[in-house]
Amino acid sequence: MSDEATQRSVTDAAGVTDAADATVMPEHLVVFDTTLRDGEQSPGISLDAGEKLEIAEQLARLGVDYIEAGFPVASQGDFEAVQAIARSVGNQPAAPAICGLSRTQLADVDRCYEALRDAARPRIHVFISTSPQHMVHMLKMDESQVLAETRSGVSRAREHLDDVEFSPQDATRTPLDFMIEVLSAAVESGATTLNIPDTVGYGIPWDFGALIQYVRRQVPGDYMLSTHCHNDLGLATANTLAGVQAGARQVEVCVNGLGERAGNAALEEVVMALAIRSDQFPGITTTVRTEELARTSRLVSRLTGYPVQYNKAVVGRNAFAHESGIHQHGVLEDRATYEIIDASSVGQVGSQIVLGKHSGRHAFSDSLAKMGITIQGDALNQAFNRFKELADRKVEITEADLEAIVAEELGHSVVEGFQLDALEVSGGTVGVPRARVVLSRAGEKKEAAAEGNGMIDAACNAIREATGVHATLIGFNVSSVTGGIDALGDVVVQLESDGVKVSGRGVSTDVVEASARAYLAAVGRIVRMRASSEDRRLEVGP
Ligand code: KIV
Ligand code: ZN
Repeated sequence: MSDEATQRSVTDAAGVTDAADATVMPEHLVVFDTTLRDGEQSPGISLDAGEKLEIAEQLARLGVDYIEAGFPVASQGDFEAVQAIARSVGNQPAAPAICGLSRTQLADVDRCYEALRDAARPRIHVFISTSPQHMVHMLKMDESQVLAETRSGVSRAREHLDDVEFSPQDATRTPLDFMIEVLSAAVESGATTLNIPDTVGYGIPWDFGALIQYVRRQVPGDYMLSTHCHNDLGLATANTLAGVQAGARQVEVCVNGLGERAGNAALEEVVMALAIRSDQFPGITTTVRTEELARTSRLVSRLTGYPVQYNKAVVGRNAFAHESGIHQHGVLEDRATYEIIDASSVGQVGSQIVLGKHSGRHAFSDSLAKMGITIQGDALNQAFNRFKELADRKVEITEADLEAIVAEELGHSVVEGFQLDALEVSGGTVGVPRARVVLSRAGEKKEAAAEGNGMIDAACNAIREATGVHATLIGFNVSSVTGGIDALGDVVVQLESDGVKVSGRGVSTDVVEASARAYLAAVGRIVRMRASSEDRRLEVGP
C-alpha cells in the first residue's frame, strides 16, 4: 500500500477501530476457490475434465489453499473430473487441498470421498438448506429432519477423513436460533469448518459481518468460520470483507466472480482488497501470487466462454486505462496519481512480443513452457500449425495471442471436436452471402455449402449442414485479444440445444473465421454432451 493510503485510514482517525494500537498477530486467511464447482454452475458453462484440470493447475500456480473441484454425485463427468484433479494437482507436495461438495445423504458422501481419496489433503463439503423457504419448497423437511440429516451427513464424512466443512444453505434467510442449532450439531458431529452461505445474495455488509460475529459467539467448539457470498445485489466482495473483519478466516471465491446467477465474490477483488487495504485487516495474509491473477482470469474466461467485462475491477482490460486528459497527465507524472494497484503486481503488464514468423517448434513450445503452459502430442502440433498460420498474417505475436490460440486448440483436443480444415466465404453489398466449409472429426471429412444473411451467418449455416447439429444461437460476442489493425478477433458464441446452453470460443485475425471456429467449438460440445447422455446433472438447488 502507498504511504498516502497508510496515512488515510478513516476508521483509525475517527477512532472507530483501535487497530493501530493492537498488537498485530500474523494470521493466514484461507482462500477457498470454487470456480470449478459454484463457478461451473453459471448458466452456459460446461467444462469437461481436461478443461477443469487445466484450470486447477493454474489455481495451484496462483497459490489458493483449497480447490473445490466439483460435486461428484451430480454426474459421472463431475466424479471423474474431481478424481482426476485429486490424483494430479492435489497429489503433489504442498499442493492445494482438494474439496468435493456433497449433500447429506450417506451415498452422496461416500461417492464424494471415493472421488477425493487419492488427494494428499482431501476435504468433504457437506451442505443442507436451513431456511424455511428452502425447507418447505425444496427439501420438504421440517427442522428436526434437517438437524438429523446434518448430524448423519457430517458424521459420515468424518468417518472418511478429518477435514469436513459444513454449510447451512441459504443461511442469511435462516432464523438465527435454528441456524445456531444446526451449526452446533455440525460441530458436535465433527465439522471443522463452518461456512455461512449467502446463497441468494441477500446480505448487506454490516449485517453479514454481524452474522459471522454472532455465529462465532454462539457456536461453541474448535472450527474455522468461512464466508460464501453471492452477488445478486453487487455486494459479494463487500460482504466477504465484512465477514473477514468479523472473524471469518476462510473466504469462498470464484475467479472473475463466476457462479450461480450474478455470481460469487470475485477472488481477485477480495485478494487485492485485503492486500491494498491491509490497514483494515491487520496481520491477515493470503498465499495468493497476485502476479498470476490476470493470466488466471484470461484462462478461465477462455475455457468457460464467459468474457470479462472491460471495466471489471483488477482483471478487466480497462482496469488500468485512462481516458481523460487530466488523468492521463497525472498518470504520466506518477502512476499512483490515479492508480492504487501496480498493474504488474496483478500480471496486467503490456503483452511482450515473444515470437515471429521465423520461430520454430522448439521456440514455440519453449515460450509456452515459460508461460507455464505444457501441451504435448496432437494438441501441440495443432497449436503450432495455428501459430504458423497466424504468423503469416500477423507480424508481432504476443503472449496473449499465444494463450488464445493454445486455449482454443486445447479445447478442441479435449472434446475431440471438429477441426475447421477450410472455410471459403463470399459476400458484400451485392448478391447473397455464401459459405463453404470442410470439416474433419476423428479422421472423417465433411463438406457443406450454405447461404445466409451475412458471411458469418452463411458460415454457421454451412457448419450446421456439415455436422447435422441444429442449435439456436442465443449469444454472440466479438472482442479483440490485443490492439492494432491485425489484432486477433476473439468470438464467443452461445448455443442452446435440447434446453442446454453451451458456449464456444474462436480466435483469428479474420472475424468470420473466428466466428466459424467459435460456432464449431460449441457444436463440438453439443455432440459430446449428446454422446454422454448419462452425464446429466442432478437438480440440487441454488
Ligand atoms: O450458495 C450456496 O449456498 C452454495 C452451497 C452449496 C455452499 O453454493
Ligand atoms: Zn454458492
